[in-house]
Amino acid sequence: MSDRAALMITTPFPDYVGFSVVTMDTLGRYALSPEEERILSPRAVRKRRDEFLMGRAASFHAMMRAGIESPPPVPKGPSNEPIWPEGYVGAITHSSGVAVSAVCPADRSDGIGVDIENFKRNLSPNVYRLTCLKEELEQIHADESQSRLMFMRIFSAKEAGFKAFFPLAQEYIDYKEAALSWDTDRECFHGKLLKAAGPKYPKGAYFRVGSRVVDRFVFSFVLLPSKSP
Ligand SMILES: CC(C)(COP(=O)(O)OP(=O)(O)OC[C@H]1O[C@@H](n2cnc3c(N)ncnc32)[C@H](O)[C@@H]1OP(=O)(O)O)[C@@H](O)C(=O)NCCC(=O)NCCS
Repeated sequence: MSDRAALMITTPFPDYVGFSVVTMDTLGRYALSPEEERILSPRAVRKRRDEFLMGRAASFHAMMRAGIESPPPVPKGPSNEPIWPEGYVGAITHSSGVAVSAVCPADRSDGIGVDIENFKRNLSPNVYRLTCLKEELEQIHADESQSRLMFMRIFSAKEAGFKAFFPLAQEYIDYKEAALSWDTDRECFHGKLLKAAGPKYPKGAYFRVGSRVVDRFVFSFVLLPSKSP
């Protein structure tokens, strides 16, 4: 079962970033606060409830490891973004029974993104074309035996990038508004924004997204350096 393998996700971040991986087996006694309960629709299906619970538990542990003694509830903003305590940045992801969160002081990083995808899940037929640029499709089809994995790496890296940039941009950044180029030696993508994500990250700004394969998951991570305003 992949839950155990998912526990083998070690932090890709420096020490000042709080990092946590939670499965239903490792939830312990964590319970949602009433404020977090209210975020969930009463009609939320079991899968959504479990993923939300694991995500909030992972964020609780990540905040503690980032130095927050009594982590507060994490509400959500109007675009579903998690709202971190003043002076911190962070991100949450969940997929197929596992959740990951990373949090760090905002004076160390302008934004963090994490994303985890089960690369064996079913994909809709048009998803490559809808989410990838021409150059990315070329990378995907360079080796047909690896095309699904390369697609999932690209897709997941874009979602990790989105979570890091959204709080800076305060607007939606489409999948095709960031271009990714795979670096096999460093196991990462070199990314370029095709539209601005706030004043610190203008159109054309570069960023890097790490990408690992753990069991049946692709795990992607971004730590934007702290730039002066
Ligand atoms: C929001 C999005 C990134 C979520 O990704 P996903 O694979 O569906 O789901 P994940 O489990 O990985 O992440 C879900 C978490 O993302 C976080 N999230 C949702 N909206 C967010 C936003 N606007 N900004 C930052 N984080 C957000 C939430 O914490 C959510 O978990 P929660 O609802 O339990 O709190 C994705 O659905 C999306 O809309 N992507 C936008 C397009 C894009 O990726 N562009 C790339 C440009 S660089």
